[in-house]
Amino acid sequence: MTSEKRKILVTCALPYANGSIHLGHLLEHIQTDIWVRFQRMRGHETYFVCADDAHGTPIMLKAQELGVSPEQMIAGVREEHMADFADFHISFDNYHSTHSPENEAFSHEIYNKLHDNGYIKTRTISQLYDPEKGMFLPDRFVKGTCPKCKSEDENGDSCDNCGATYSPTEVINPRSVVSGATPVLRDSEHYFFDLPAFEQMLKDWTRSGSLQEEMANKLAEWFEQGLQQWDISRDAPYFGFEIPNAPGKYFYVWLDAPIGYMGAFKNLCDRENIDFDSYWNKNSDAELYHFIGKDIIYFHSLFWPAMLEGAGLRKPTSVYAHGFVTVNGAKMSKSKGTFIKGRTYLEHLNPEYLRYYYAAKLTSRIDDLDLNLEDFAQRVNSDLVGKVVNIASRCASFITKRFDGVLSSTVDDQALADEVMAAGDKLAELYEARDFGKAMREIMALADKVNEYIAVKEPWQLIKDESKQADVHNICSLGINLFRTLMIYLKPVLPKLAESTEAFLNDELLWDGHKTLLSNHKINKFKALMQRVDMDKINTMVEASKESLQEAAKTATPVASKTKTQLADDPIAPEIQFDDFAKIDLRVAKIVKAEHVEKADKLLRLELDLGGETRQVFAGIKSAYQPEDLEGKLTVMVANLAPRKMRFGMSEGMVLAAGPGGKDLWILNPEEGAQPGMRVK
Ligand code: MSP
Ligand code: ZN
Repeated sequence: MTSEKRKILVTCALPYANGSIHLGHLLEHIQTDIWVRFQRMRGHETYFVCADDAHGTPIMLKAQELGVSPEQMIAGVREEHMADFADFHISFDNYHSTHSPENEAFSHEIYNKLHDNGYIKTRTISQLYDPEKGMFLPDRFVKGTCPKCKSEDENGDSCDNCGATYSPTEVINPRSVVSGATPVLRDSEHYFFDLPAFEQMLKDWTRSGSLQEEMANKLAEWFEQGLQQWDISRDAPYFGFEIPNAPGKYFYVWLDAPIGYMGAFKNLCDRENIDFDSYWNKNSDAELYHFIGKDIIYFHSLFWPAMLEGAGLRKPTSVYAHGFVTVNGAKMSKSKGTFIKGRTYLEHLNPEYLRYYYAAKLTSRIDDLDLNLEDFAQRVNSDLVGKVVNIASRCASFITKRFDGVLSSTVDDQALADEVMAAGDKLAELYEARDFGKAMREIMALADKVNEYIAVKEPWQLIKDESKQADVHNICSLGINLFRTLMIYLKPVLPKLAESTEAFLNDELLWDGHKTLLSNHKINKFKALMQRVDMDKINTMVEASKESLQEAAKTATPVASKTKTQLADDPIAPEIQFDDFAKIDLRVAKIVKAEHVEKADKLLRLELDLGGETRQVFAGIKSAYQPEDLEGKLTVMVANLAPRKMRFGMSEGMVLAAGPGGKDLWILNPEEGAQPGMRVK
């Protein structure tokens, strides 16, 4: 134990349940996970919870579009998110959902307290309403002509052309993105949270807490502009929790989202017998930290502490915001293939590369972080493979082959050992302060020193001299020992590499172990611990990201493709009825021509003979077939699929192939005797 045992509860922002996890989200989860693993290693009682943010209009509409219930959709997305996070080694104690009984109970409880304490007001407001769809329209579901510069097809609240911001009621020729109808103004009673009543408390909290400097400045700006009443209700239809004693009125998603932190923790407490109240009561001695992105500071540093205060609960110890991920110096872009999903990354690269790269570039500040893909490869190769793992690979074989795998008990260079061991305290401070980049630089500087030491001593020369065997033993033992110390320091960032190191060293890497060296200790045979990053794999990943979005754009309806949160691939295909199936016209088709499509990785252009009629189809089967092998073959195609314009031309149908993908993707070869144009039963 390093110091007094602390009780720490940590959260990440809750990802929306209608899109895939991408490398931007992962910055937050990796940053938080490193901090949490560090705290756990130091012996503090640390809980780390998160959940999917499952409510709101976009989620409701997306489920409708997929033809499933919102409950079904969010359950599928949650599974997908959990698998992604697990594969990046994010060590949640619980990953819950805001659409949960715990969250509903807390939302009601907190709202009722706010209401009883006089912090809820009602007022009638006038808003754009879609008469066709029968619902009020959130700003971004309205489009039209910018009232300032007259540019057409602009957003309901801001103009991409001139940068103006305005109210959706000012938009010229507005239309509903949901139905295309012209919205009308309609009155409705809304519920408001009295944020201005908390101004003094929030000012005190800002000053007393350990908020980042930039955040405190931002808050000062907001105080200057004046705090406003916050609209917390939405009218039916809405996917969320109904407001007590207000039929047809629902909590706005941002009301119950942060309460979801409590819901997720409660669910864990019930499962593991943890005392929930001791973390959330007003006099709690536990620490509470929220890690978030810079876009949601307002919600976490104003609304959330005010809600907690108004409901008689404790406030966060601190809120830590990070900046946004850019890739190769620009905003993540779907067309450039730099909008990379976590899953796509995992199909090509080791998650620990990304963990290390993010750690190496993170500071405690709110600056954006650029993932430069070449720098990424170079940094990982030079630091992790070239410096850290290199120490072990240079020393291990001598120990195994010449000294029975046992480390010596003599320290060859005490000063060097002391320097590496003494760095632990400084590194702990840097981890605690979320200055991970600085910590990584310190660790790599130590790795350089150890490598230099080995290079100067040249054990591979000494080994040839019979009288120098003991020296070789001592030098390589110190090398292995200091590799161990460095891996202790890196364990919060690289949990899997640390695990393989533990197996190799036959020793558990504990934080306090940095103060000691292994002596007369048996180690295991060295196996390669980490592969170099291959730039080709990075390029393939970028290509795959381009394609997966092309696919998404193809499958999404025009409505869905307009909103940011709906651009990700559909996580699940809804069940269809027999009637839906009967609509598909399956025909035998003869492939009369097949050829490569320039600049398309996966596509082949096929000409299909349907017994007299010829169709052009672009099929994503290039990985499995050479075009010449396909010509003359028969396949089954969907003949009545509406033609779609693709980047390369019109596609007038779809051919059926099955298999896990890659090389194993088979065109269904119908029985002999099939004729082009035949219907498939
Ligand atoms: N559901 C809300 C959060 C509710 S918390 C009570 C939300 N969801 S989100 O899916 O849009 O974003 C989740 C987190 O990921 C946020 O902290 C957001 O800042 C972060 N990021 C999303 N895109 C990001 C980048 N490109 N870069 C870094 N972080 C990013 O907001
Ligand atoms: Zn404009």
